[in-house]
Amino acid sequence: MLVEHRVALRNSGKINPENIDDYISRGGYSSLRKALELPPQTIVDELTNAGLRGRGGAGFPTGTKNQSTAIVCTDCEKYVVCNADEGEPGTFKDRIIMETDPHSLIEGMIIAAKGVGAGYGFVYIRGEYYTSIERVNKAIEQAREYGFLGNNILGSGFFFDIEVRLGAGSYLCGEELTLLESLEGKRGYPRIKPPFPAEKGLWGKPTLINNVETLANFPVIIEKGADWYRSLGNEKSSGTKIFTISGYVNKPGFYEVEMGCKLGELINDLGQGTKDGKPWKAALLGGAAGTFVPYSYSDAIMGYDKLRENGATLGSGAIIVAGSNTPLIPIVQSIQKFFKHESCGKCVPCRVGTNYLYEQSLKLTNATPIERKEILADMVKQAKMVAKSSLCPLGQSPILSLESLQRHFEHDIANEK
Ligand SMILES: Cc1cc2nc3c(=O)[nH]c(=O)nc-3n(C[C@H](O)[C@H](O)[C@H](O)COP(=O)(O)O)c2cc1C
Repeated sequence: MLVEHRVALRNSGKINPENIDDYISRGGYSSLRKALELPPQTIVDELTNAGLRGRGGAGFPTGTKNQSTAIVCTDCEKYVVCNADEGEPGTFKDRIIMETDPHSLIEGMIIAAKGVGAGYGFVYIRGEYYTSIERVNKAIEQAREYGFLGNNILGSGFFFDIEVRLGAGSYLCGEELTLLESLEGKRGYPRIKPPFPAEKGLWGKPTLINNVETLANFPVIIEKGADWYRSLGNEKSSGTKIFTISGYVNKPGFYEVEMGCKLGELINDLGQGTKDGKPWKAALLGGAAGTFVPYSYSDAIMGYDKLRENGATLGSGAIIVAGSNTPLIPIVQSIQKFFKHESCGKCVPCRVGTNYLYEQSLKLTNATPIERKEILADMVKQAKMVAKSSLCPLGQSPILSLESLQRHFEHDIANEK
């Protein structure tokens, strides 16, 4: 029986998130004290050795990113940016951290700043997350009052401060380079990569961008050490991960578990199975930019590389469950509508391509089984073209769900009532 193991959510539900003393009483800010006495390279090494990978979706090694930002220059202006845009459908983990334990994120950002040598930070929060915005702002004010932010932090001579900035509802603004454009006050259009943010980020300065959940792990790694963190999870995916389960399950919600558990355990033990007690038909892993898997993936190991080996994705940790009678065509249409709506329009392949994919998905409704297979095949073909020719990762997203649908559910889609 799978049980939760809370690391990023260690204080969630146990403290008053608006009271810094509650956070401190559970060991909060003691990792910051420790980090301030460590050489910056030791902080970065600890993150690297912990094997933590970015929890925003891409799973990029966190230590590598910190290292690149730390060494790019020693005496220059740098920034730490927390990505709290959380736009991926089915994902609501960062919101839980910000609403229930905002100081873990603030402490993580200060530790990150000390490691890479940054003097200023921004938390870019999705504009509709009213409670998160309020609580993170309050936490910043309290941290300033207690001397954890601002000049000469805890007498160490280190300066770092944080401001909150709001997203305006664009999914693409969660993509790190587009987020930087938005933070600079420009329209949310993507930038071409490279250069990467570690080299040339916010206002052209080296910038470390990490997701909320990633940063919330920093204090625990500094407190308990890399070896302890690595003892959780599996070889290529260490630690824990927050999964958000929704759809046709008895107990939708957020669950933090060790990496390396099985998909079926998450759905059955924590999500308490499907509403009708029958095997589920499909699970969409990683949200709209993710992959569909069938029930036979119940034993799939939830880790970045293990899932990829099986043609699936972990992404942000969203798991959307479709029951045995849940029609898939409306889900396909809803995903295509999402991408069409969120395409920023800057590059033609994505602007025209996402529109075409949506129009094609609508044709599935009244088509015959043979026509449906042809439409799906055409959508996969066109989505591949869009992925190849688009400027940014948004255009590379629709292919994932479409290819996995064709591989596992072509028959279901063709014969759906
Ligand atoms: C279209 C798109 C939307 C994204 N939205 C988010 C988001 O809302 N939150 C997030 O943390 N990362 C998001 N990402 C991933 C970021 O670009 C980036 O990888 C992440 O912020 C890095 O932090 P991490 O290494 O801690 O995961 C998105 C990526 C793409 C392509």
